[in-house]
Amino acid sequence: MSSQENGATRPGAPTTDRVKHIFSTIAPSYDMFNALSSFGIDRLWRRATVRLAGPDSASAVLDLAAGTGDLTMAFARLGKPASVLSTDFVPEMLEVGKRKAARYSGPTTIDFAVVDAQALPFGDASFDIVTIAFGVRNLPERDRNFAEVRRVLKPGGRYVILEFSTPALAPFRVLYHFYLKTVIPFLGGLLTKDRASFQYLNDSIRAFPPQAALADELRAAGFKRVSWRNLTFGIVAVHLAEA
Ligand SMILES: C[S@@+](CC[C@H](N)C(=O)[O-])C[C@H]1O[C@@H](n2cnc3c(N)ncnc32)[C@H](O)[C@@H]1O
Repeated sequence: MSSQENGATRPGAPTTDRVKHIFSTIAPSYDMFNALSSFGIDRLWRRATVRLAGPDSASAVLDLAAGTGDLTMAFARLGKPASVLSTDFVPEMLEVGKRKAARYSGPTTIDFAVVDAQALPFGDASFDIVTIAFGVRNLPERDRNFAEVRRVLKPGGRYVILEFSTPALAPFRVLYHFYLKTVIPFLGGLLTKDRASFQYLNDSIRAFPPQAALADELRAAGFKRVSWRNLTFGIVAVHLAEA
């Protein structure tokens, strides 16, 4: 599952340096890019993810690759768990999230930490829910992340993955891939002057396994009761897996 096989990096395959460079560069424009490129639907996807995760008022949630904190804030506002720990390995992204959390008043305790999603500095069985939105695609070694998440989840705890996926209907899939190839690099280049990063984004979406294959990977990693829900015709999917 490593992205670097035979010494070569496949197109769309993440490497730690490339991913860190991309997100530290685009941090100030990231939210604007998301809203424009998804026509604002990304907010609905995050809300659906919180509903599917189903936290209660006692839940301890760990948000991995949390970026500018939109899923973290959706948890705090909608799910109202006891706590959300918002983590990412790019501090510039977390800084944006911290400003959002400063405006929050509600029952959830929100904390931030610089953490690599492939090496979690937490004890075993620490969290009820671990989430990752549009982050798992950027991990060079998903299997390391899956093993770490299983370890830090309490028995019966859930890993909830929101990620771009494969639309089921062929004509829609063709249209969507055309959009990824043309509009996304154009829009990204316009906002950040860094078109190459958005070309990577397009490639990484196309290189990512479809719904059933990701579910198989989660089962192979030892997760139980693995399922997924397609959103917006399968442009994105939420995978749920139990530790
Ligand atoms: C597309 S953004 C998603 C941010 C946020 N979860 C959202 O829904 O908007 C991907 C994030 O993953 C982070 N990331 C990528 N690889 C990571 C890793 N190994 N550990 C922690 N964060 C990582 C990047 O820094 C970036 O902030």
